[in-house]
This record gives sequence, structure tokens and C-alpha cells, in this order.
Amino acid sequence: MMNFEFKNPTKILFGKGQIDNLPKEIPANARILMLYGGGSIKQNGIYEQVLFALKGYTVFEFGGIPANPEYNILMKALEIIRNEKIDFLLAVGGGSVIDGTKFLSAAALYKGINPWDILAKAIRTETGMPFGTVLTLPATGSEMNSGAVITRKEIKEKLAMGGPGLFPQFSILDPQVVKSIPKRQLANGIADAFTHVMEQYMTYPTGALLQDRFAESIMKTLIEIAPVIIADPSDYNAASSFMWCCTMALNGLIQKGVPTDWAVHAMGHELTAMYGIDHARTLAVIAPSHYRYNFEAKKEKLAQYAVRVWDRKEEDTDALATAAITETEYFFHSLDIKTRLRDYTRDYKGTAEKIAQKFTDRGWLGLGEYKTLAPADVMKIVAMSY
Ligand code: NZQ
Ligand code: ZN
Repeated sequence: MMNFEFKNPTKILFGKGQIDNLPKEIPANARILMLYGGGSIKQNGIYEQVLFALKGYTVFEFGGIPANPEYNILMKALEIIRNEKIDFLLAVGGGSVIDGTKFLSAAALYKGINPWDILAKAIRTETGMPFGTVLTLPATGSEMNSGAVITRKEIKEKLAMGGPGLFPQFSILDPQVVKSIPKRQLANGIADAFTHVMEQYMTYPTGALLQDRFAESIMKTLIEIAPVIIADPSDYNAASSFMWCCTMALNGLIQKGVPTDWAVHAMGHELTAMYGIDHARTLAVIAPSHYRYNFEAKKEKLAQYAVRVWDRKEEDTDALATAAITETEYFFHSLDIKTRLRDYTRDYKGTAEKIAQKFTDRGWLGLGEYKTLAPADVMKIVAMSY
């Protein structure tokens, strides 16, 4: 096991009715900016619930943060924060709203001139404006981690940011929100969380027995609840396990002491930036090719996953590892998620070259757990996924 430090300061309030506890977590004199997305919270009752809990506070609102939170829209919220002397941000939404709020938390206290530099120059945020979240869509884990991904459409960029100042102070996880989520987003959430675990597991063995079993248990639970939650999102027990799996998949715990990959996400973000494909679906496109291309480096863990997660019985490592990739593809298909780029765009020719060029321009010359995947490798992996 590798050395590690672990600190996660986010307080979780999990379960039915926890939205009512918002006033316990926000200072009484706070000037709050409540941030949300395209309006789902106004249809499912969450908006009223939150406003009811916040009566007595000074609350400003900013709605309209789109999926893949857009820099230029967030800059309008930054003006409100400055003009209205906001001192607490409350994200009510999925990963996009929470990530947008993290950007604002960083930008509000940023000393530089241009907040885009936080993303373009990968400036870590040591201290951000305090914020909390009410999660409405289990998927990203953003509710209990300190990372965010922001899009800037005009230049087709989708870049990550983060730092210890960007953990939510608290996150409210009420699984009852799951019942209003459309099938497409439920499938996305399952696939995203599943891939988060794979990114932190499908590397090479380091004798980290507990971390491996944490990871395997999250994957097994997601496989178990997937058909249940897709058939009936109002199943509270399944919704609870789904929600907690997504949080645990990316709150830092399972990656401690082990190597991590994250190349699937790096390539996937480019597909969203270029074609607007849902985040989770880009991962389903890239992951199978990534594991096939890096078969030799990853086959020990692929084989362990085949045995422990998919109950495969093949005798040799290569056969198990091959089966592992096929099982993963079938799992995505079982969620009605397609795993080829051509299923999402007719325009796919040249994608591999463009992504490789972007990585070269950014100086991303070595991805993956060994930091050896060069743009030339990225080009081959993306091309394999056409
Ligand atoms: O905008 P509204 O109207 O709220 O609708 C949203 C949106 O259209 C809808 N939705 C959310 N909760 C709902 C609901 N509809 C009905 N009932 C509810 N309870 O779902 C749609 C998608 O929402 P979004 O927040 O975009 O989805 P998700 O949570 O999958 O977030 C995706 C974003 O997070 C980033 C992705 O790159 C992408 O930009 N990620 C963030 C990570 C992090 N911060 O740690 C890690 C991830 O790997 C990922 O990169
Ligand atoms: Zn993801």
C-alpha cells in the first residue's frame, strides 16, 4: 500500500426529510445565493422544500445552470455574488450545479484578474466561499469531493479544477429525490459512479486489500440495484444504496493508498466538449477501448474484477481479463448506454487526432497510472472507440 493522507471535511445529512435541517447548517445571518439548473427542482417539489426550510434567511436565486456548467453563465452569477454581498452558496442540483457552485466559490475569493485562469492554469483553491449542497441526482460524487469540471463552449474546452478549499461544508442526501429522475439520467448516474470506481481500481495490484474490496463492493452494489432503480426509481431502499454508492465512489476514500488512472475521464471530457455527449456516455465509449489497449498493464486487476465482481470462472488471467471487458460493455448496454462513438455522432472521423493534438498543446504527455500514455496512445484509444 502506498503512503497517504486523508481528510474529508464534508458533513453528510442522509435520509428522508433532511432538507428541513438546512437552518442547522447555515449561519443565521448568512446572505445566501441558491443555485440551480434548468428547472427540474420546480417540477419535483424540491425548490419549495428548500425555500421553506430557508424562510427567515436573505435568499437570492440563480437558476439556469446547464448540464456541463457553462463558464459564461456562471460569470453572471459571480456578478450577483459581488453586487449582493453574498457570503454563502447553496447548490440545489446534480453534478453540474454543484460543480458550477464550486467554480463560483473559488472565483468569488480569487485574487487574480481573470477567473478562467483557475481552469486554464490549473490554479488550486486553498480557500473558497463557504457552500453547501442539496443533491438531486446521484452520479458524480461532487457532493463530497473537492473537484469540479467547467465547460466553455465558445472555445470547446471542458477543464477540471479543485483544491482543499472546495469541499462542500455539508451535503443533504435525501434519496426521495431519485423518484423524479428520468431513466436516461439514472443510467448516467450508475455508469458514471461505476466508472469512477474503475478509474481508481483498474490499475495494478499493490496489496491494498481493503481498498480493493471497498471498490468491488461499490461495483457489486451498483450492479445489484441498477435494474431495480431503473424499473422503479421510487424504491427507497434501492435509491438509498444508489445514492450512497455514488457518493462513496468519488469522495477520496477508495483511492487512498492505491494508484489511479483517470485517463478515461480525460478523453471522455473531450468528447463532451466536442459533441455535447452526456458525461457518463463518453466514459462508456472510451473505457472498453482503454482497457483493451492497456490490456497487459491492467490484466491482473481486470482478472480480479472478473472473478470477484462478475463471478467469472475462466482459469487463466488473460481469459478472465478479456471476459471482464466484455462484462463491462454488457453492463453499459443493460443500462441502454451505447459504447461506440459512431452511436452518438456521424462526425467522428478525425476525433482521435484532434484530441491527441489538444493533449499535446496542453502538455498532457503522460496519462494513466504509469503516466506513460502519450498523445499517440490517446489517438489510438479514441480511434478504437469509433
Ligand atoms: O438542470 P435541471 O433542470 O435540474 O435538470 C437536470 C439535468 O438536465 C436533471 N436532474 C437533476 N436532478 C433531477 C433531474 N431531473 C429530474 N429530477 C431530479 N431530481 O438531470 C440533468 C443532468 O444533470 P447534471 O447535473 O448535468 O448531471 P450529473 O450529476 O451527471 O453531472 C454531470 C457533470 O458533472 C461533471 C461532469 O463532467 C458533468 O459536467 N463531473 C463532476 C465530477 C466531480 N465534480 O467530482 C466528477 C465526474 O466525473 C464528472 O466529470
Ligand atoms: Zn465521471
